[in-house]
Amino acid sequence: MTAKPLSGKELAAAIRADVTTRAARLTDASTPPRLTVVTATKDESSAWYVSSIAKAATKVGITCAVLDCGPDASADALRETLRSLSADPAVHGIIMQTPLPQGIRLDDVAGSIDIAKDIDGANPASLGHLAVGHPVFAPATAEAVIELLDHHGIPLSGAHVTVVGRSAVVGKPLAHLLLNRDATVTVCHSRTRDLSAVTERADALVAAVGRAGLITADHVGKEAVVIDVGTNVTQDGGLVGDVAPGAVERASALTPVPGGVGPVTTALLLRHTVQAAERQSA
Ligand SMILES: NC(=O)c1ccc[n+]([C@@H]2O[C@H](COP(=O)([O-])OP(=O)(O)OC[C@H]3O[C@@H](n4cnc5c(N)ncnc54)[C@H](OP(=O)(O)O)[C@@H]3O)[C@@H](O)[C@H]2O)c1
Repeated sequence: MTAKPLSGKELAAAIRADVTTRAARLTDASTPPRLTVVTATKDESSAWYVSSIAKAATKVGITCAVLDCGPDASADALRETLRSLSADPAVHGIIMQTPLPQGIRLDDVAGSIDIAKDIDGANPASLGHLAVGHPVFAPATAEAVIELLDHHGIPLSGAHVTVVGRSAVVGKPLAHLLLNRDATVTVCHSRTRDLSAVTERADALVAAVGRAGLITADHVGKEAVVIDVGTNVTQDGGLVGDVAPGAVERASALTPVPGGVGPVTTALLLRHTVQAAERQSA
């Protein structure tokens, strides 16, 4: 058996079409939706990612500004920038792009983003709202996993879903989103003993680690659904996930990398921006 590919491209296109209509409505009502991405790095893959968000935003009618604070920015300077953008009524969505300057964690500074504008759920308060079951904005990647499963008709209520990875931007918020949808959730991490024995019991397995090929056929239960969040750049500049090619023989369905979670994540950042603008102009 070979796993059915769970593409994210069609879903992403449908989200972008909806966002385009809503952005035009906002612009007609003199509230053009505006996203600002704050950067503080010279990292090339980050620069590529930011420019791809800016292009995607422009295509759907969202103005996207990039505010570069430079790789030497202090935590205080970043907090002041985020506070000032939060207070600016013309800015509806704010992303604090990572990586940050050495020694600064995202949660050190993201608390200065107004949660109404925190469209990638980086403020620890946004995670708190999610954890109590009333999200304002969830991190887009975590939400993309749920949207993909829904889009492909994979039921969550009562299903055993195992997430490998417990970061504040993917694994932890995803665990809460899954709990909010009545899944039974197991979260694994680098200290999990006998990873494959844990993961193979899951109806659905989400890999969010950042290690190419970590998840092999041995980690996948027979006919489990596998969502590959990982993005790993290969030596020849290609992109691969965390799931080894052999896993397709065990899984019933598997997201491709690229073309799975990634495009849905970007589309959701755009949807969150128009949602934020709609709420702020109501
Ligand atoms: N497609 C998208 O749109 C998108 C968006 C965001 C991120 N990503 C990708 O998703 C992946 C994860 O991102 P992240 O920001 O969450 O990474 P991260 O902050 O580095 O977290 C990685 C997680 O994996 C766990 N881990 C590491 N080695 C492991 C092992 N051998 N066995 C089990 N767990 C292990 C870590 O455990 P500990 O906590 O114990 O260290 C940690 O919880 C990356 O590839 C990233 O590029 C994709």
